[in-house]
Amino acid sequence: MSNRTFTMVKPDATGKGYTGAILDQIIKAGFSIKAMKWTKLTKEQAGEFYAVHKERPFYGELVEFMSSGTIVAAILEKENAVADFRTLIGATNPANAEEGTIRKKFAASVGENAVHGSDSDENAAIEGDFFFSALERF
Ligand code: CMP
Repeated sequence: MSNRTFTMVKPDATGKGYTGAILDQIIKAGFSIKAMKWTKLTKEQAGEFYAVHKERPFYGELVEFMSSGTIVAAILEKENAVADFRTLIGATNPANAEEGTIRKKFAASVGENAVHGSDSDENAAIEGDFFFSALERF
């Protein structure tokens, strides 16, 4: 099992000024930051990042949203990182997220849900490689 995961603070959360509070909650939960950047995806890049969802009805909306503003991308390290991070952020739909989770506190809807968290070790590696070169991770 890998000890790393990948996250993004999404455009809804950066736009509302939640970045600091979200990163604070992540660090206090025991994750350490191994790479981080503040950036903005083009539609093409967002489409490529979410290519696995290409056939889903919400794909167009997802690509539009994820390229609509700035994001903060990061690689995080902790024992059992993927599963523990998904617990910390809560359910994809904030209406179903547990009290105290990042999405419960900061997300508005299933589409604009404040943060991304990788769903497997394999995807964590792929997603981290999408954003960061070897020189940008420590
Ligand atoms: P994320 O974990 O980043 O990965 C896929 C994203 O698709 C997910 O977060 C949601 O933001 C988005 N998503 C999932 N289901 C829906 C939906 N029904 N409508 C709009 N967006 C969705």
